[in-house]
Amino acid sequence: MSKILAFGASSAKDSMNKKLASFVANKIAPREAILIDLNDYEMPIYSDDRKRDSGIPKKAYDFKNLIKTSEGIIISFAEHNGSYTAAFKNIYDWISVIEKVVWNNKPMLLLSTSPGARGGKSVLNSALARFSQESEWDIPSFRLPNFNENFSEELGIVDNKLNVDLNEQIKLFVSQVNEHQ
Ligand SMILES: Cc1cc2nc3c(=O)[nH]c(=O)nc-3n(C[C@H](O)[C@H](O)[C@H](O)COP(=O)(O)O)c2cc1C
Repeated sequence: MSKILAFGASSAKDSMNKKLASFVANKIAPREAILIDLNDYEMPIYSDDRKRDSGIPKKAYDFKNLIKTSEGIIISFAEHNGSYTAAFKNIYDWISVIEKVVWNNKPMLLLSTSPGARGGKSVLNSALARFSQESEWDIPSFRLPNFNENFSEELGIVDNKLNVDLNEQIKLFVSQVNEHQ
């Protein structure tokens, strides 16, 4: 059974992006979803000097191993000041010095949400542009604006059009996961 790694790229305990990543990962059952919390991978802020003096932290290798052993990856990005959260960026920086192909060419589904109308548009576009450079896949993506109005814990995505859009992107992701196996 293929394992899908899923996480919200946020360190907030009550993160809306964690909720969205978890909701989407559970929609692709019966595949097993490995839901992780970025707080479990907190490390000193990346610096070349730290890397030289102390080496790459074990948590970075642990995170990298999760990527390697997955069959697909779902990330939902929180946007801080138009970009990645510091929690995500630090992990990204550390794993990017382990090996060049950071996401190991796994099929990915990239999501974002925020309380506002842009739904994390800038961070999602950055991630798509960057990750596409090293991926053989046409990476599916979905952006959920106005999370508090458009998402319900019981019903999921309440807006019909957004729901249709998401399901199309999930379908594309699942077909890539199947192709990859
Ligand atoms: C330091 C900081 C910067 C933020 N910058 C943005 C931003 O640039 N764009 C945006 O849509 N929301 C921004 N927000 C609001 C976040 O979208 C909001 O906190 C949301 O809950 C983050 O998702 P999360 O719950 O998954 O952490 C910012 C919040 C913080 C604390």
